[in-house]
Amino acid sequence: MQTIKYVFQPHGDERGQLIALEEFKDIPFHIKRVYYMYDTADGFIRGKHAHRHLEQILVCIHGSCKIKLDNGSEQKIVPLEKPYEGLYVGSLVWREMEFSPGAVLLVFASELYDEADYIRDYDEFLQIVSERKNED
Ligand code: TYD
Repeated sequence: MQTIKYVFQPHGDERGQLIALEEFKDIPFHIKRVYYMYDTADGFIRGKHAHRHLEQILVCIHGSCKIKLDNGSEQKIVPLEKPYEGLYVGSLVWREMEFSPGAVLLVFASELYDEADYIRDYDEFLQIVSERKNED
């Protein structure tokens, strides 16, 4: 399973690091929404869903995160441990996220929040993936 991890270019000097992300330049889509997770509790898994259309870039800006991706036939665990790394997660990918204590995960999203875009049932996810494959 292919995953795309971006390495963003920091503007660093003796004061520290700064990363600027622009749509269509660093982020491969129009950024309609940004959200972040913090006060993340040890041992809890978030996500457990896929999206019908949404594209996202995940950046663990503090601590570390383990992102489990599943396209319906293959699974991969991608560690995000650096604030300059961005993981692309496209549509129809089941994702589960695990956090180190206090980790902060920043997400850039291509669409506004829409509960109808979520697939929260794993069997339904597999069904939709196989229907999509048959259409191709
Ligand atoms: P959810 O996507 O279920 O989080 P996770 O997949 O990490 O478990 O979202 C948790 C809650 O936050 C849910 O009630 C919906 C709400 N929410 C918004 O209102 N807007 C958003 O952009 C997101 C991502 C979530």
